[in-house]
Amino acid sequence: MCGIFAYINYLVPRDRKFILDCLIKGLQRLEYRGYDSAGIAFDGGNESPDVIKKPETKIVKKKGKVRALEEELRCEKDMKLDIEYDIHCGIAHTRWATHGAPCAINSHPQRSDVNNEFVVVHNGIVTNYRDIKKVLESKDYVFESETDTEVIAKLCKYVYDHRENEDMSFRELVEVVIAQLEGAFALCFKSIHYPSQCVGTRRGSPLLIGVKTKGNLSSNFVPILYRDNRGREFQDDVAYNREGTDSAFKRSFSTTDFEVSGDIKAAEYFFASDASAIIEHTNRVIYLEDDDVAAVMDGCLSIHRMKKEEGESMSREVQTLKMEIQQIMKGNYQYFMQKEIFEQPESVINTMRGRVNFKDKEVILGGLQDHLSEIHRCRRLLFIACGTSYHSAIATRQLLEELTELPVVVELASDFLDRRTPIFRDDICFFISQSGETADTLNALRYCKKRGALTVGITNTVGSSISRETTCGVHINAGPEIGVASTKAYTSQFISLVMFGLVMNQDRISTRSRRNEIIEALENLPNLIKEVLEMDEDIKKLAEELYEQKSILLMGRGFNYATCLEGALKIKELTYLHSEGILAGELKHGPLALVDKAMPVIMIIMKDSMYTKCQNALHEVTARGCAPILICQKGDKESQSKASRVIELPGTVDCLQGILCVIPLQLLAFHTAVLRGYDVDCPRNLAKSVTVE
Ligand code: G6P
Repeated sequence: MCGIFAYINYLVPRDRKFILDCLIKGLQRLEYRGYDSAGIAFDGGNESPDVIKKPETKIVKKKGKVRALEEELRCEKDMKLDIEYDIHCGIAHTRWATHGAPCAINSHPQRSDVNNEFVVVHNGIVTNYRDIKKVLESKDYVFESETDTEVIAKLCKYVYDHRENEDMSFRELVEVVIAQLEGAFALCFKSIHYPSQCVGTRRGSPLLIGVKTKGNLSSNFVPILYRDNRGREFQDDVAYNREGTDSAFKRSFSTTDFEVSGDIKAAEYFFASDASAIIEHTNRVIYLEDDDVAAVMDGCLSIHRMKKEEGESMSREVQTLKMEIQQIMKGNYQYFMQKEIFEQPESVINTMRGRVNFKDKEVILGGLQDHLSEIHRCRRLLFIACGTSYHSAIATRQLLEELTELPVVVELASDFLDRRTPIFRDDICFFISQSGETADTLNALRYCKKRGALTVGITNTVGSSISRETTCGVHINAGPEIGVASTKAYTSQFISLVMFGLVMNQDRISTRSRRNEIIEALENLPNLIKEVLEMDEDIKKLAEELYEQKSILLMGRGFNYATCLEGALKIKELTYLHSEGILAGELKHGPLALVDKAMPVIMIIMKDSMYTKCQNALHEVTARGCAPILICQKGDKESQSKASRVIELPGTVDCLQGILCVIPLQLLAFHTAVLRGYDVDCPRNLAKSVTVE
């Protein structure tokens, strides 16, 4: 996730200081979306805009938080701040690195060339950037960053320099460029060839536009002019009213182009990744949809669609926001953790994006590609981590053993170090860490490196110590996780490890059907996660029954042992209740003594190879008078008959079921903590990143 912000003023005179402050403020609002580096582009030079002969674009970028960029701007010498612009376009970006470590050169805006002819800010991942880069390099384009985004800027210049139509508009140029891109993006463009214009577009990543007009207009009324691509125009204020707009549009338009432009002389526009950056300027916003290309030119906003789907609405409603800033940053959620739980259908897609080819049933992990033969030759695989990250390795160990046919060792980093565990040159050591900074995991990495093992990082933070110090790795691309208790990072780590197993297994013919079954299940997983999230209300009711308890036990085995550990950790971290994840196979060896009528027990029983053994555990528990809360597969009547409450989940392939099973537990911990009145995002005594041993 990254944050995009652009500010365009048209016949609203603003001095440079105002413009820069506005861009910086916009970035600060979006900083929660990414905060490893930031940058802005605006009109350069100190000449008055009235006498300017050659427009120039100035870019300022800085590693670190937006505050560092602000400081950098303050230190800029020879930059007049009182220079006034009647018309101006500035674009800005706060980054959460996916391609290339955080540093000024990899920050956005990315540029087409040393003259900054075209500059672009990007949120998302362009999956075919290597192919485009190769083509452009063969045409002597020299790349300066490691980003996927740079190809977009360079492609703009290429298209511009080779255009046949001298009058090609900025919007048309962008349409040619994005037609070449695969993956997900929201983009904003600025160019010296199209001074003071801004083009924004999206496919898969969010982008909206705030509109602020001068004059005493009532908040629900701005005269809007619609024009189709044959030049027909009409004016209708019903754009601010969904019913009216739709009917007016359907009556009058049958083309795939439409424009929303104004006879408004003065206007300001704000492009942003979310409304938190816009709300302080205006509450009138237009949410762009995938493949919309929006252009601001001469104070008018036009929205163009590249293709029209059957039954598609031909209007974009200008909505009136009625929310507070804090609310918007968290979307409709009260807490970051809650938002992150609900982001999982999207974050798991981002983890797989450009890596899993569902059609050809192939998986490619670019970050491991060059080391695969060495990994195949290894003696054993070690997975070393702490907390939730450790659980992701436990959750996938069985599948990794199955797919790689190698011994798989999973270690808690602190214990691994305490034991001074023997490591061999032909070991492959994985270090799993959301933050990439956890001290114990980092120390374990250095320990293994010293002993000559190949080290692999699985992190969510590009440029973190673990991603820098490992030989190779996989970025899980879950987007920044702000809630201290890890949720979406867990499911993305889980999927990254499953993808690793599939890569290792790629050439084996005997297991092809198993591999295909897993890849098909991966494709459907986001839908199933959505289905599970719809049970939120039921889980809340369960939390209402449990929140005054003193202890909760979670039991399961096989693929869901890790789910129990992770569920218990979430409950501990957030609710401060005692909670234990118990391997159902160990029940008789001690934990059964804890079980009686009064003890709350959650059992996970799925229809996999452990089903009968789990049924036995269920009998052992019910025989002690306990009626457990059951997490089971839809329609499993046999297990349900013995439960006090049932959470029925959709089924998926056994090795991915843990992803679906953990979500109700994340929600349960969350709701229980809220009911107990605790700070969900910042639990007591805990930190997001533990950088001490
Ligand atoms: C801390 C956090 C946990 C996290 C663990 C490992 O304890 O509170 O949520 O799972 O660190 O963090 P890492 O960043 O290495 O995944």
